[in-house]
Amino acid sequence: MADKKATLSVHGANEPLELPILSGSEGSDVIDINSLAQHGLFTYDPGFVSTAACMSAITYIDGDKGVLLHRGYPIEQLAEHSDYLELCYLLLNGELPKRAEREAFVEVIKNHTMVHDQLRNLFSGFRRDAHPMAIMCGVVGALSAFYHDSLDIDDAEHRTITAHRLIAKMPTLAAMSYKYSIGQPFVYPRNDLDYAANFLHMMFATPCEEYEVNPVLAKAMDRIFLLHADHEQNASTSTVRLAGSTGANPFACIAAGIAALWGPAHGGANEAVLDMLGDIGDEKNIDKFIARAKDPNDTFRLMGFGHRVYKNYDPRAKVMQETCREVLDELGIEDPMLRIAQRLEKIALEDEYFIERRLYPNVDFYTGIILKAMGIPSTMFTVIFATGRTPGWITQWIEMIAGGYRIGRPRQLYTGVSRRDYVPLAKR
Ligand code: CMC
Repeated sequence: MADKKATLSVHGANEPLELPILSGSEGSDVIDINSLAQHGLFTYDPGFVSTAACMSAITYIDGDKGVLLHRGYPIEQLAEHSDYLELCYLLLNGELPKRAEREAFVEVIKNHTMVHDQLRNLFSGFRRDAHPMAIMCGVVGALSAFYHDSLDIDDAEHRTITAHRLIAKMPTLAAMSYKYSIGQPFVYPRNDLDYAANFLHMMFATPCEEYEVNPVLAKAMDRIFLLHADHEQNASTSTVRLAGSTGANPFACIAAGIAALWGPAHGGANEAVLDMLGDIGDEKNIDKFIARAKDPNDTFRLMGFGHRVYKNYDPRAKVMQETCREVLDELGIEDPMLRIAQRLEKIALEDEYFIERRLYPNVDFYTGIILKAMGIPSTMFTVIFATGRTPGWITQWIEMIAGGYRIGRPRQLYTGVSRRDYVPLAKR
């Protein structure tokens, strides 16, 4: 794997250092710098712009071409022909399931959709106006206190059961966090419904009234989960891996991932997009907001635009745009926000600032509009992202634990004061 070498000449050193170059099955080669520390050298790469932190066989992104592959399969094909649970199976197992495997997997997930009844008590400790993401950080971490029968991270079966539990229980917890915030009783999962339909049922049914799930909306929800399922080493997944590298239990690691996802530069962007469209309010104000986004002295950014890896159209955004149209047509909604979004997209795509920096709409740009049309409040958007991303987080965690790992421990370039002696209080 490492026939190629890079040579590093260090000023003042006797000889240049030879560093192996590793090649993956796709994408750029990487220089293996692991041995640098033996020579008293470290690399400096804030934001991990040029650093591969692990090897992984799960997801591949070519940001220049706008390509996203899960276990080799393009996201567009998965979105068209597959569904969320099949993708969960694919991520976890590496291959698409045969019919019997698929049925067995769906059955297993259904058998884990309920949460321990004692968990209800945890919810009542939160304020009613708590952000659902704040609740999710707490209750997902708390799962480790409920399911300690599967916490041996060195046992492959335990890891699998935990993966199934997390995938199955996330929609239940997500819907509970919503129901709690609006003061309605929790709705139990219905295992005769499929994954996404069951989530909508738990969100919108009440004990007084049956909720008939609209199949177009259920399909759109499934697609939203599917499009978020994994995205290689993004900030939340890297957080899950870093937490996991200490040997921490998987529920705690996923809770850490949820916390990282919450930020507006990451999963919190879908909520921020809707807030931004609300702030713009009218097409006539778009130019003003574009000017603000371009102003280096203004911290405002066009939410739902730009990506660290994609320097082309986010392939998930394209699918999301189609789904958005399907949902709005089905519901007969003429959303003025969609008009603002479409106009904003057009203007930004033609603007020199955005073209130069290769800032394209990302997955979050359209998600918010679809979810809003479905009647889901914006505070739930990132919770839905977290639910969809769970199979990615847990598969990446399993890959790391099963494949051998060292504790993640970045180094630093110290810029503080050099050694000095303590000054007694009287002499300061
Ligand atoms: N609006 C205006 N300018 C932008 C934007 C934006 N949305 N994104 C990047 N830029 C500019 C930035 O100011 C910089 O300009 P300059 O070179 O003149 O200083 C240049 O583009 C490069 O930006 P960067 O901050 O170095 O890029 P990054 O890779 O560190 O950040 C990002 C990526 C996604 C955090 C950023 O594009 C952003 O903040 N976007 C808005 C938030 C968003 O939509 N996030 C969702 C990401 S997709 C879902 C997910 O993965 O969670």
